[in-house]
Amino acid sequence: MAASRSTSACKVRRTCRVCGSLRREPVVNLGRSPPANAFLKPADLARPEPRYPLEVVRCLECGLVQLRHVVDRSLLFRHYVYFSSASGPMADHFAQLARSAADEYGGSRPGLAVEIGSNDGTLLRALRGSNLDVLGIEPARNIARYANDQGIRTWNTFFGREVARRIRSRMGPARIVFSNNVLAHIDDLHEAAGAVADLLEPEGVWIIEVPHLAQMIERVEFDTIYHEHLSYFSLPPIERLLKAHGMSVEQVEEIPVHGGSLRIFVRSAALSSRQAPNVAKVRSEERRIGLHRASTFRRFRVAMEGVRSSLPRLLDRLRSKGKKIVGYGAPAKGNTLLNYCGIDRRRLDFLLDTTPAKQGLFAPGSRLEVRPPAAFRSARPDYALLLAWNFETEILERERDYVAQGGRFIRPIPFPEVIEPGPAARFEVVEASSRGRAR
Ligand code: TYD
Ligand code: ZN
Repeated sequence: MAASRSTSACKVRRTCRVCGSLRREPVVNLGRSPPANAFLKPADLARPEPRYPLEVVRCLECGLVQLRHVVDRSLLFRHYVYFSSASGPMADHFAQLARSAADEYGGSRPGLAVEIGSNDGTLLRALRGSNLDVLGIEPARNIARYANDQGIRTWNTFFGREVARRIRSRMGPARIVFSNNVLAHIDDLHEAAGAVADLLEPEGVWIIEVPHLAQMIERVEFDTIYHEHLSYFSLPPIERLLKAHGMSVEQVEEIPVHGGSLRIFVRSAALSSRQAPNVAKVRSEERRIGLHRASTFRRFRVAMEGVRSSLPRLLDRLRSKGKKIVGYGAPAKGNTLLNYCGIDRRRLDFLLDTTPAKQGLFAPGSRLEVRPPAAFRSARPDYALLLAWNFETEILERERDYVAQGGRFIRPIPFPEVIEPGPAARFEVVEASSRGRAR
């Protein structure tokens, strides 16, 4: 079968990337899809897009949920359109993390903080003025150049043992290593974990943020499945990976970013004899959800198939009434959602996104045009499909006037629904009308 053959651009991986087991079972298959961040220039529209299989499997040995195929990382990450600074709430989140980590782990002597997958330097920038020198490692040429231009020292390369050695010899060991939303992008997890272990000071800390499989399953966040996301983590496979490199989880926090993530504090196993009680709590929460059971993943598949059948129906019903509908945000996950559900220019008018690097381009697969946010106001759509659903609170807050004037957002997951103005707004209306009656 063509889908199973390896090519130079896409390899089939036959073993689990954490435990090496061959025993893996299928979870879901999203079919051949274009890479989710491969936005097209107008000139590319005449050519067919490369598509690669998008199949999720689960390791029966260690529980790691992972993609069966690996698209060549140079194709995915050497030029990148995702800028952390383009999403205000993420920028705030990273800045807060950097500052609290510096307070907690920065110590009083000068030291070094390294970020793997540092993007445009949004996190490291917040360490200015601390006692920590900073270094970002970022494979995207355009983004590394941008970060360096902003004064954030960034090496334009993929992270690994050789890079860790170079950092140590030139700048010394790291007191803090950050890896936010990057572990899932790394095929060779043992190379990366070994490199961090080599890089850290003996009492250093590795702070990891990864989307949590538990939330993906519970909230049917199937659109976070795309070629960049090779792994979908729960705690046990991470603990197993760390153990192989002499490290362990000291503390874990559940945080709301990206639809529900884990923030994991990792130290040398020689140090962390005591684990915070929250680690056991997250582990038992994962068991309660049933992340160790095949039936949980079957339910997940049924739920995502439900979105695939009901969302196009909802859009078609609105379209048949002459409604204008746009996509709000052009996140990578939006492209999985659109392509899996068969939503293209017949069902939406365009997408809008705050990222300048995406504006004027066309979404992979659906070929919907990405316009700047100002287009939202001038087009006055009746409905906006909330593709950036992870920022629902901020977006609804910002677009209060749109909703007040009758515009409506559609939340695509866990099942598609039109978001009606919340209880607070209703309360105001009721109050105003009852006051009116009393007078
Ligand atoms: P995000 O959900 O962070 O990531 P991913 O690409 O991994 O799915 O991307 C959010 C996108 O939405 C990003 O391109 C910026 C954009 N955006 C808006 O257009 N408006 C907004 O108000 C916010 C918060 C983000
Ligand atoms: Zn495994």
